[in-house]
Amino acid sequence: MRIIIEKDYEAMSKKSAEILAEVVNEKPEAVLGLATGGTPVSMYRNLIDMNKEGKIDFSKVTSVNLDEYKGLSGDHDQSYRYFMNNNLFNHINIDKKNTYVPNGLAEDIEKECSEYDKRIENLGGIDLQLLGIGNNGHIGFNEPDDFLHMSTHLTGLTEGTIEANARFFDKKEDVPTEAITMGLGGIMKAKKILLIASGENKAEIISKLVEGKITTQVPATLLQVHPNVTIVVDEAAASLLKK
Ligand code: PGA
Repeated sequence: MRIIIEKDYEAMSKKSAEILAEVVNEKPEAVLGLATGGTPVSMYRNLIDMNKEGKIDFSKVTSVNLDEYKGLSGDHDQSYRYFMNNNLFNHINIDKKNTYVPNGLAEDIEKECSEYDKRIENLGGIDLQLLGIGNNGHIGFNEPDDFLHMSTHLTGLTEGTIEANARFFDKKEDVPTEAITMGLGGIMKAKKILLIASGENKAEIISKLVEGKITTQVPATLLQVHPNVTIVVDEAAASLLKK
């Protein structure tokens, strides 16, 4: 694992945008695995600026997102499709037809999941997968459990995750309790992984991710066996790392 420590959230965001831009500049038709959440918002803002300045071209890029809440349509303001449109896709020169987010309203969820995986395979796999990390070590919505899933699947959200995400909704009861998420297999098959985290409240999970034992109870620890992982954190999130 390559660990890059930046001073603060803004510096972390700039650095991670540069790493993503390098991948696209090297391979203009790159397949990007993208993530939602509070953490990548400023990274996406940096990418929007870089796109306007001609420093990155998304015209040939395809994106696949990690997850989507079950039951929310793409125009619900808390859906991840809406988040991606608003925070990135509407402001860059990507062809929206080449942006994929699981369909939270799919009637046949199993079919939606298997088609999602097939699409990624047909695209030739993910060149760069961007990840945030939950306080409990979830990546995507792969929550701590005795067993983890290989493929895209429907999953229940833990109480802690529902609580963490309640800040985006009017009230906690509005947070969906299930989501479609790429599985650990889908994430681990990405050629390169970029995980970003910021703030003191991520310090403990970042130390487990980097220095802890590999366990399905902290799904992100599986990244320790991936051959090409870069972690960009700010000083606060790195504050419990030993070395
Ligand atoms: P956050 O979420 O970026 O809002 O902290 C990360 C995650 O839960 O994966």
